[in-house]
Amino acid sequence: MTKKIIIANWKMNNSFDEAEIWLQNFSKRISTIKENSEIILCPSFILLDYLDGLLMDDELQRLQKIHGNIDELSEDELEKKIFNIRQIHLGGQDCHFEKKGAFTGDISATMLKDCGCEYVILGHSERRQYLKESDQLIAKKINAAIDADLIPILCIGESKELRQNNSYHDFIGKQIENSISADLEIENLIIAYEPIWSIGTGLVPTIKQIEEVAEYIKNKIAVNKNIKNFAILYGGSVKKENSAEILAIKNIDGLLVGGASLNADEFFEIVNISDK
Ligand code: PGA
Repeated sequence: MTKKIIIANWKMNNSFDEAEIWLQNFSKRISTIKENSEIILCPSFILLDYLDGLLMDDELQRLQKIHGNIDELSEDELEKKIFNIRQIHLGGQDCHFEKKGAFTGDISATMLKDCGCEYVILGHSERRQYLKESDQLIAKKINAAIDADLIPILCIGESKELRQNNSYHDFIGKQIENSISADLEIENLIIAYEPIWSIGTGLVPTIKQIEEVAEYIKNKIAVNKNIKNFAILYGGSVKKENSAEILAIKNIDGLLVGGASLNADEFFEIVNISDK
């Protein structure tokens, strides 16, 4: 993964109307992007199919401009070509570990794939905290994501107490070991380092602190020879004002943006900074 990866995590925000307006505002400016960044939008489940449809319409028009006559293409070819020129990619915010079954309220990885997703966020600290998701459960979800041909975005990060006790290495190390089955072959993996004390608080670790953890994660992942490619992202109170210096940190390949991604203009600025 050579491009910078910039993810918008909308969490439980945005109605259909708000999502459409966001996309209109963002798309208006996207033609100025050099495409050095992979833009991934992770809205709530119910918005996925709708946004996929809107993105497809935009891309169909772009494809027509690039390709000329597209009437002869089969539906499959058309879909493939559209995916190749896609500038905004979709991801889910979670998935179940089973393909289907009696799991009321849940969504499977294959369902996400069906809605045009290429990615899925797993193990976000809000789910670990409020829904008591364990590393073992997250490991099963990663397996399901890979099975469904989705790229997992694994979130890890320590609490304030663990940072203060200086035991965050152990904690993050265990999160990595326990959430990734040792024998699982992984083509692409995204790890988002999101210290819990930084999410939505405006508190951002120092450059040195992020750099130190990024190196630790890199070394930890690199020993697993079953993981072919991986990228390390930082998340937690990312704003347009701090994104350039965070993106410049060694071993940081992108950003996971929560609150600031709800504003299309601010998120565009962050993408623009990463695209240089
Ligand atoms: P934040 O959230 O940018 O609002 O801190 C980041 C996240 O939870 O992914």
